[in-house]
Amino acid sequence: MDEFQFHEGRLFCEQIPAADLAARFGTPLYVYSQATFVAHYERIVAAFAPVEPLICYSIKSCPNVHLCRLLAERGSGFDVVSGGELYRALQAGADPRKIVFAGVGKTDAEVVEALRAGIGLFNIESRSELGVMEELLAQLDRRAEGALRVNPDVDAGTHHYTTTGRKETKFGVDIDQAVEVFEQHRGARRLRLCGIHLHIGSPVFDVAAYARGIERGVALIDDLRRRGFELDTIDIGGGFGAHYRGAESPPAAEYAAAVLPALRSRGLRVILEPGRAIAGNAGIILTRVVHVKQSGTKRFVIVDASMNELIRPALYDAYHFVWPVEAGVLTPPHRRPEQPFDGLQPADVVGPVCESGDFLARARLLPEVRRGDLLAVFTAGAYAMSMASQYNSRPRAAEVLVDRADARLIRRRETYSDLVAAERV
Ligand SMILES: Cc1ncc(COP(=O)(O)O)c(C=O)c1O
Repeated sequence: MDEFQFHEGRLFCEQIPAADLAARFGTPLYVYSQATFVAHYERIVAAFAPVEPLICYSIKSCPNVHLCRLLAERGSGFDVVSGGELYRALQAGADPRKIVFAGVGKTDAEVVEALRAGIGLFNIESRSELGVMEELLAQLDRRAEGALRVNPDVDAGTHHYTTTGRKETKFGVDIDQAVEVFEQHRGARRLRLCGIHLHIGSPVFDVAAYARGIERGVALIDDLRRRGFELDTIDIGGGFGAHYRGAESPPAAEYAAAVLPALRSRGLRVILEPGRAIAGNAGIILTRVVHVKQSGTKRFVIVDASMNELIRPALYDAYHFVWPVEAGVLTPPHRRPEQPFDGLQPADVVGPVCESGDFLARARLLPEVRRGDLLAVFTAGAYAMSMASQYNSRPRAAEVLVDRADARLIRRRETYSDLVAAERV
């Protein structure tokens, strides 16, 4: 499925040896495969083709403007949650009518920017926001369309930091209050509430939970239609999985099969907001071993990537497969080398940041690695660079896009001067 493959013990991104990329661009380095990125997008388009959806790539997952442009050129829209993301989408050549704007705390200035840009849909997260939207639209003498974000109260089995579809989260309104919110808005002249928005969490590997959330959303639409509301849109959010360990994420076709019958029979305009499923497996981080050290019974492989480049392990205890780029004969037979096979030793792969939470992998069986060796951290296309920080004053890493035998720098490595640039006031 993805274009990061080992050939005779050497990792390649498409046609380029990963080691060559590290030599040319330095480490730590984000490397993206264009073919993988585009293929994952196209799989979702194909899977949901019967409802001709508008796919709005969730920019927060991997916001590089060059990657976003690849999708804009293929007709994708964008899911944004800030003025900055709106700016990125427009920079990437997005059609503003294909932009949807979610977020519990959109500022008035951000809303005005989005209205001026002519975006297609506001995903409204509270009664308060509905009122403010009406006021701002009146001030600007405009009209707009919105979808009410509802929490269908489905447990999607996601980490509690990425669970969004339960009651008592800060997102959206509880599904049992949705009718009341629609009723309060009845007769409002400026913002047409044309549908509902759902996003139950991320990543959702349980297709049945995903389907349950959407069935509840569709049932709400039926109810609202019976009450005389003219609804034509359902935005079913994102949350499709990516492969972190092996091939654990259901394919797009499986998510689609579970929800298409309910969507088709209602004749709704369907919007999807996938991020991770497009970008996750399309990127890796290349990192070099700085030191190997033993501390009591523990072996630490200290690398030049850290929680700065990938905070997911620290934040969510997330698993990312890590393996040497040039492991010779020890090519991973599968992506779960917890089961010992010859020549492996347990190790924690950690970064140089001054936090004990700065780890990329813990208690993993790895081949012998030495100072100077290269490691690859897989499934680092989504929520890696987009969550990167400069903590410990470490300049952010470069990003490279590989297209077959070509590699192109799409974000330069930051410099020390970048660290203080905004402080020169
Ligand atoms: C409203 C909304 N839509 C879409 C997404 C994208 O989720 P994913 O990258 O898992 O597809 C998120 C993620 O947080 C979200 O909050």
